[in-house]
Amino acid sequence: METTGQRLSVIGIGYLGLTHAVCMAEIGHDVLATDIDSEKVAKASAGEAFFYEPGLEPLLRKHLESGRLRFTSAIADAAEFAHVHFLCVGTPQGTDGRADLSYVRSALDSLAGYLSSGCLIVGKSTVPPGTARPLAERVRALAPAGDEVELAWSPEFLREGFAVADSLRPDRLVFGVSSERAVVRLREVFAPQLDNGVPGLFMDLETAELVKISANAFLAVKISYINAMAEVCEAVGADVGKLAQALGYDERIGSRFLGPGLGFGGGCLPKDLRSFRAAARELGVGSVADLLSTVDEINLGRRTRVIELARKSAGGSLAGKRVAVLGVAFKPGTDDVRDSPSLDVCGRMSEEGAIVTVHDPVAMPNAARANPVLRCAASVREAAEGADVVLHLTEWADYRAIDPAALGAVVSRRVLIDARCVLDAPSWREAGWDVTVLGQS
Ligand code: UDX
Repeated sequence: METTGQRLSVIGIGYLGLTHAVCMAEIGHDVLATDIDSEKVAKASAGEAFFYEPGLEPLLRKHLESGRLRFTSAIADAAEFAHVHFLCVGTPQGTDGRADLSYVRSALDSLAGYLSSGCLIVGKSTVPPGTARPLAERVRALAPAGDEVELAWSPEFLREGFAVADSLRPDRLVFGVSSERAVVRLREVFAPQLDNGVPGLFMDLETAELVKISANAFLAVKISYINAMAEVCEAVGADVGKLAQALGYDERIGSRFLGPGLGFGGGCLPKDLRSFRAAARELGVGSVADLLSTVDEINLGRRTRVIELARKSAGGSLAGKRVAVLGVAFKPGTDDVRDSPSLDVCGRMSEEGAIVTVHDPVAMPNAARANPVLRCAASVREAAEGADVVLHLTEWADYRAIDPAALGAVVSRRVLIDARCVLDAPSWREAGWDVTVLGQS
C-alpha cells in the first residue's frame, strides 16, 4: 500500500475514533489521537482496546510499536501536530430523540482555540443534516487562523464486529466539502484507499450528513419490514424464515438485513433513527418522521412479543419463574449492550418478577454493569439449570451447536423461544422441546 505519511489527529477515541486512528496509521499516516478521558488514553497507549472488536488490538499494538500512532490527553498537542483533524466524538440520544451535539461542540471549541495555522477538520460523528455548516462558521470565528480553518464531513459506516475491515476497505468514502482545497486534502489523506478502487464521493455538507443517517434509517426500515411480515406470518400461520429467504433471492430486494427476529439495537441504528425522525419533524417533512416512528414501533413491538410469549409459556405470569437467556449483546460479534434488545427484554422480565440468568460469550461484564439484577452464568448449561423457559435472544454461532438433548436434561421444563429464528427447531423438537420461533405461528 502506498505510504502518504500525513500528520493526522483523531479527537475522541471511542469505538469510532480508536478504530479510525488505528486504521489511519495502518494505511501509512502518522496519527496523534486524543480524548478527554485520561483512562482511555492510558489504556490505548498501553496497547489495550477497551472494547471487544476482533483484530483491533493487534493493529493498535503494531502501530504503537511502529511509532505511527500515539495518544495524548492534551488537545493542544493534537492541534499543533496535525494538519488534518478527525472529529470522532459521540452524539448520544438527547431529549425528544434529538442528537446531543454537546460533545461535538465542546471538542471543536477546545480545538479551535489552538488552531494558529490553516488546517482541515473532518467530522466523522453522525449528526443530523444542517449541523456542519454553522459549526464551520463557529470554528472559523474561534480559531486564531480564522478562514484558513476548514470543516468537512465524512461519515463512517463501520459495523461493530467488522470495524477494522470496514475501515480499511469501506464500500465507499463519502465527503461533504465546501471548497476545492478540502477535496485536494481529502484525496491526499485517503489516496491509499481511493487508489485501490474504493469509490470516493464528494458532495455538499448537508448531503454527506444525510447519507449516513438515511443509510442507517434504510437498514432499520428493511429490518422492521421483515419483522412486520413476521407479525403477518404469526397471524396467518406462515413462516417468516422461508418468506425472507424467497424475497431475498430477488436481487432488487436482497437477503441482507432481511433477518427476522428480535429487531435492531446497538449504539447506532436506534439513536440515528430517532435523531433523523426529530430532524425530519423540525424540517417539516412529516412523511419521513411518520415512517420512522412506525419503524421504531415495529422494532420495539418484537421485544414485547417475546415477553408475551415467555409469560404465556410460564402459565400467565413470570413472577418467580426461572428464565435462561442465551445472548445479551445487541448482536453477535460484539460485547456492546447499548440499546440491546436482549438486555431490554431481560430487564422487563426481571421487573415482572422473573429470575433471569443470562449467558453471553463476551458481553456479560457489560450486561452485569448495565443491570446488576441479572444473574450471569459461565456456561449455557449453568444458565439453563432449573429453567422454566429458555430464550435465544442473540444469535451467537455457539448457540447453534448446543445439544438440545443434553440441555434438556438440566432444565426444569423444555420450553424454548427462538427470538432470532436461526436455531434448528426440528432437532430441538425431536429432543422433546416445545419450541416457538418468532414469525412462525
Ligand atoms: C450499524 C450500520 O450497519 C453501520 O453501517 C453504521 O455505521 C452503524 O450502525 P452496527 O450498529 O454495528 O452497524 O450493527 P449492524 O450490524 O448494522 O446491526 C444492527 C442491528 O440490526 C443489530 O441489533 C442486529 O441484530 C439487527 N439486525 C441486523 C437484524 O435484526 N436483522 C438483520 O437482518 C440484520
